[in-house]
Amino acid sequence: MFAKRTNWNLAPNRLSQALAAHRASGKPLIDLTVSNPTECGFAYDSEAILDALRNPAALKYEPNPKGLECARRAVAEYYAEKRADVAIEDIILTTSTSEAYSFVFRLLCDPGDEVLIPAPSYPLFDFLADTLDVKLTRYPLLYDHGWVIDFHALEQSITPRTRAVIVVHPNNPTGHFTKTSEVAKLNDLCVSRRLAIIADEVFLDFALNEAPCATFAANSRALTFTLSGLSKISGLPQMKAAWLVASGPQPARAQALERLEVIADTFLSMNAPIQLAMPAFLEQRHSFQKQLLARLRRNLAELDRQLATHRVCTRLAVEGGWYAILRIPATRSGNDLAIELLNSQGISVHPGHFYDLPAEGYLVISLLAPEANFGEGISRLLGCLEQD
Ligand SMILES: Cc1ncc(COP(=O)(O)O)c(C=O)c1O
Repeated sequence: MFAKRTNWNLAPNRLSQALAAHRASGKPLIDLTVSNPTECGFAYDSEAILDALRNPAALKYEPNPKGLECARRAVAEYYAEKRADVAIEDIILTTSTSEAYSFVFRLLCDPGDEVLIPAPSYPLFDFLADTLDVKLTRYPLLYDHGWVIDFHALEQSITPRTRAVIVVHPNNPTGHFTKTSEVAKLNDLCVSRRLAIIADEVFLDFALNEAPCATFAANSRALTFTLSGLSKISGLPQMKAAWLVASGPQPARAQALERLEVIADTFLSMNAPIQLAMPAFLEQRHSFQKQLLARLRRNLAELDRQLATHRVCTRLAVEGGWYAILRIPATRSGNDLAIELLNSQGISVHPGHFYDLPAEGYLVISLLAPEANFGEGISRLLGCLEQD
């Protein structure tokens, strides 16, 4: 009765079963996987946020496939602050970055066409690709005191059916930015092989060092789609507001936008109140990002303080984003360790294989948890590893 593309194994795995049982028992949990910013104790300006949703202009329906101009102007201003000149005609609003991916996959790929994704990276791509009949091919990121793209392997992965290369900038969970020299190589490769670049920048504003990193939104050599949204930038995932920016050479960019407009027009998925509120929601990013960056830096410092007295665990270099990767002894499977940490210590962590890291020897932790929880969680985690 159902399409093969939905033949997923939907049985809960052992870790998710253990987590559900732990929550059902009412036992306390320190969640070191938390990624929902609305549950991490940040102070939001609730009045400004709710006021923005009371705009009388929302009583009128003015369908615009690319999204209302006032919202797109606010997005263009966001990029102008980053010294990237983005025209509002080159922006299309979507309800999520995931939806923006789906528009771009629909634009570029016939069923069975291929898109290159980094490994490690975050797990959503598989489901997106399945639902859109796209085949994913992974290209490796290599770690040596920091992460780099393995360009040789990336080039080897290209086939006649490859349509695009995805970069997550900075990547989740490695937290590394695509460097200027890598952007140049990517452009060379994509121009010569007629591929598009899809740049996911949802974590762009969360650089842990002082120097801000350049956006792909003004990348002009290869056809480029830059994706971002309010769920991370302003910490407002519940508002469902995101966008894509098309850049690159003409006429490809104009042709891409014409076709994307038809895809967007087919769904018209943005609603009026949220679009009208987008300028105010984007404004909220300043206060949110200040709090969040302070939290990330404090938690990372606490992690390093505790790691300094433990020999069995180290952390990989991180340049930005909300996560850190821990290197641990590969004595048992990541799932077994995560279940043991849950049952014996009441802490939840992600095994590295969730993110395409090698199955053993890595844990991914979120740096978002409130400081006291985070410090206690790390202390329990390291204590348990020492006993192994
Ligand atoms: C790298 C990356 N891109 C996109 C998303 C999804 O963003 P959105 O909520 O806008 O769909 C996530 C969510 O965690 C993410 O980690």
